Amino acid sequence: MSIYLAGVILVIAVSALLWKCIVYPFFFSPLASIPAAHPLAPFTSLWIQWQRLHGNDFQSVSKAFETHGPYVRLGPRELALNDIEAVSCVWGVGAADFDKHPSYTYWAMQGTSNTFTSILKSDHRRRHRRIRGVHKHSYIASSPHVRAIMSTLMVDRLTPLLAQFAMSSDGTADMLPIAQSIVLDCTSAFAFGLPLSLNFLSDAAARQHWFDLINTGFPNDQSSFWLREHPQLTIMLCFLGFPVVSNKVAKARRELEDWALLKVDAAEDVLQKRDKGHTLAAGKLPVLCDAVWSDLAMTHSETTKARFSISPAQRRELASECLDHIAFTTEAFATVLTYMIYEISHHQEIQNELRAELHSANNPLLGNTSDRTDVPSSDTLERLPLMSAIIKESLRLRNTSPSADPRVTPAHCTSRIGLIPNVPPKTRVCSYGWWLHRNPDVYSNPLDWNPKRWLCRGCDDAALAKKWFFAFGAGSRNCIGQNIALECNDSRTPRIASEPSTEYGGGLQPIIIKRDAWYQFSERVTGCSSGIGRAIAELVASKPGQRLIATARNPSSLSYLPNNDAILKLALDVTLTTSVEAAFKTAADHFGDNFHIDVVVNNAGYELAGDTEAATEEEMHGQLETNFFGTVRVATNATRVMRQSKDRRGGIIFNISSLAGVAAFPGQSFYHASKFAVEGWSESFARELHPDWNINVCIVEPGGVKTEFEHGSKKYTKTHEAYDGADMPARRLAAWVKKGVAAGAGVPPSAVAEALYLVASRNDKVPLWLPLSSTAAQLIKMKLEARLENLEAVKDLTPIDKK
Ligand code: HEM
Repeated sequence: MSIYLAGVILVIAVSALLWKCIVYPFFFSPLASIPAAHPLAPFTSLWIQWQRLHGNDFQSVSKAFETHGPYVRLGPRELALNDIEAVSCVWGVGAADFDKHPSYTYWAMQGTSNTFTSILKSDHRRRHRRIRGVHKHSYIASSPHVRAIMSTLMVDRLTPLLAQFAMSSDGTADMLPIAQSIVLDCTSAFAFGLPLSLNFLSDAAARQHWFDLINTGFPNDQSSFWLREHPQLTIMLCFLGFPVVSNKVAKARRELEDWALLKVDAAEDVLQKRDKGHTLAAGKLPVLCDAVWSDLAMTHSETTKARFSISPAQRRELASECLDHIAFTTEAFATVLTYMIYEISHHQEIQNELRAELHSANNPLLGNTSDRTDVPSSDTLERLPLMSAIIKESLRLRNTSPSADPRVTPAHCTSRIGLIPNVPPKTRVCSYGWWLHRNPDVYSNPLDWNPKRWLCRGCDDAALAKKWFFAFGAGSRNCIGQNIALECNDSRTPRIASEPSTEYGGGLQPIIIKRDAWYQFSERVTGCSSGIGRAIAELVASKPGQRLIATARNPSSLSYLPNNDAILKLALDVTLTTSVEAAFKTAADHFGDNFHIDVVVNNAGYELAGDTEAATEEEMHGQLETNFFGTVRVATNATRVMRQSKDRRGGIIFNISSLAGVAAFPGQSFYHASKFAVEGWSESFARELHPDWNINVCIVEPGGVKTEFEHGSKKYTKTHEAYDGADMPARRLAAWVKKGVAAGAGVPPSAVAEALYLVASRNDKVPLWLPLSSTAAQLIKMKLEARLENLEAVKDLTPIDKK
């Protein structure tokens, strides 16, 4: 009987489970009619979680939008939307303002919430009310403190920097760090007052330290997945000895938090003094702290404002609010300002029109140089239609990196979202401004940067374009800092764009912008059979979210690499044009619409050693065919891919040259010839590329590398009898090199791989020449000094044009 009962209970339990996990979500859920982004999506969230873990969620959702349209199902209770009507039902006002997803607490300081991270509507309303007054346009435009902050940043800090760039040899400026400094200096001054603010425009080392802390404390890797999606599980895993998140994360966060707490204490002193009757000079008021502090004091019933002193919990709350405004607005602001300056500098016609518009306005920056002590007023800037259109268009295309800003439907009722009625409670919903802004039915030729679309009647439907504009979010929880952001953008651009052309050598120079490190695009590398290539392939394969095209003459030599979708192993003979073209085609077919190459390492090559007079025609041509023409073939094919999509242009081509491409030694003349050819060709080719394409060529010059050169990658000519004496230079050098190799000289290939990976992933200029190892640098220096000495030695013979 009891067995019978147990059997019945089991059947009921299994049926209930089947109903809950399979039948209901697939057939009866109100979300059942929405196309699934993946066959597993109706049944489990594991698929989308896996994509998030590997940093592929943006790409996967994009693909789903493309295949299935603007509504897609990512999990049993998870949706992605790409339709503004549906978005307005979720990111709206009142009942259409859904709670945020708990993953937002990732940005809260020590678990202390702030306006941005408050999850519940009710909590948000309370915090938002406190700070909204000082973020209103009327306050920003009229506050003497804000004017003083803007003026100090622009006139005292930015102007000398721009003058320095103007005087530099090429007049170019690396805009991203400047933009980052502007926003950090500005938001910290707004929070704590000018005397307590950051000064990164003048202190690059301090700025670097700040970014090290931010990048460590808020990493863009798998730890961020664990902390955002599964905070409790993460704590448990770390406790049980599975450190899915490094200790460095907490340490870096603590340093930032301690900094904010100290600033809050100092700002509170300023406010206490002010309330006792001290006058604060313009710019010294900690505006944001004052707003929160005053609200806390007002709601504190037992004491008067003058005697109010914050509790430890309120101190953390204040620091959390301020740190959020300072630390997490940098990426969005700096990205859009940099991109805007970049586009202006590449559109001469618009630049000229903008200059004319700025000169027509009442702009103190454009007067006599000595009068430039103030910034244009907000009202003046608002009357500049082209300026506003430029900002809007830049925000449209690059408001921030693609971010899903997740929300959750109310817990106690079903909701209508656009065309879907009865969306179940607690459904997670996401949307990307990135795609809303690229809808061709709303923005014609959406990938083109065309500020005129916001000005010209008949270009785009203005009302529709405005409706779909999502750069600052929407509804009750849209960006409270947008007036500050616009003020900074407005004020800085005239300063940069209106400088007289004589000072800046005829207008804005192209700005150097790193390849799309702002977005989560993966990197792919080609050219790796052994030595440096193998080290790079192994390194890239070990990084999560990276894709790799690994090539070798014989692909079985790539068995050291794991087999998975992110790694494509191909046969490639760089001496054959057809083989190179076929490899690129296979890669394009394999990766489909996602195909893009961010990084190429042009590494195929060998060394032909021996006596020049003994080399056969076949040997000398073979050396150039592989080392030089092979490099050219791969680089030109890669360039075609890197510039093909306007939306995702750019990349890095590492051409592996050598110390042997700069200085020549006896006994390997054709190897030197091939590497000198790589150097000369790369330098010329790099200069042929349009700056808009954002393709960077880097000539890599390692010294001695412990590669297989001394084994498999070296070929020898026959010995020539005339050169066969032990005292011949080539033989002496060979003996010396042999001793060095036996003694273990040279750097490991992994060191070269790490250096290249660093150049590809850091947020900085890509150098045209990259000597690797101090020996290589020293020998290159000696070579260049020898050339200078030679210039001096022949200076009487050289000026034949002056005779
Ligand atoms: C170009 C620059 C900026 C862009 C594109 C931008 C964009 C956004 C977006 C899209 C949101 C909504 C996020 C969400 O719903 O999850 C947001 C919220 C917010 N932003 Fe900005 N932002 C910028 C600059 C700033 C600045 C300079 C500040 C600080 C003064 C700031 C402070 C905030 C705050 C406090 C919130 C949360 C508002 C709330 O939940 O009520 N932002 N921002």
